[in-house]
Amino acid sequence: MTTALDLGCHSSAAEDDLFEAIASGLEQQGYVVLPAALPETIAASLLDYLAVLEANRFHRAAVGRGNDQQRNQFVRRDRIHWIEDDHQESGQWLAWSKRLQQYLNRRLFLGLFSFESHFSFYEAGDFYRKHLDAFRGESNRVLSLVTYLNKGWEPDQGGELVIYTPDGAEEMLHVQPGYATLVLFLSSEFPHEVKPTSRDRFAVAGWFRVNNSINDNIDPPR
Ligand code: OGA
Ligand code: MN
Repeated sequence: MTTALDLGCHSSAAEDDLFEAIASGLEQQGYVVLPAALPETIAASLLDYLAVLEANRFHRAAVGRGNDQQRNQFVRRDRIHWIEDDHQESGQWLAWSKRLQQYLNRRLFLGLFSFESHFSFYEAGDFYRKHLDAFRGESNRVLSLVTYLNKGWEPDQGGELVIYTPDGAEEMLHVQPGYATLVLFLSSEFPHEVKPTSRDRFAVAGWFRVNNSINDNIDPPR
């Protein structure tokens, strides 16, 4: 039995509806796209957090792991900033993702243990080539979550997220990176890419992990 108390004081019927839409989408197809679904208070707090970050705190994203890590500008061109529990602005996002984690664990028995997330900043011309967020058996990333902070995004501005069929052969979904759109998918199942953008594009990418202490690699390295 789920009570409001277990889920914290921000739990609400609207939040349960959203979490249920996410759970049933994941259960039925392994991914879910919900336009303009992130609650406004959470999206606004992420925008506030972004505003306190100086541009020079974004660093070029690394690709690869361990000794192989390198800044590979042929694969990805975005810049990232890890979201830590060190700003009051990050609190709402971290609390919301924790409640989602608890909901998915109860509903789908995923055993999600932790969550990590970063801002991504793509300037005009930036992209992220087709990739998987996790390789089966090699990573403890189970579930990827992406949301966007771009108000007034127009379809001709590029920067689409393209999600492929699990065999990587066909483009399955095109997602405009519009404000508060939520995308979740199983990290090791769906190759995806970010098409070159023609305007500044802000996203938050996060991963729910299981606790797999056999693998102490963190990808991408922090
Ligand atoms: C990622 C990623 C998708 C997006 O950061 O791994 O695939 O739409 N992001 O920003
Ligand atoms: Mn990805």
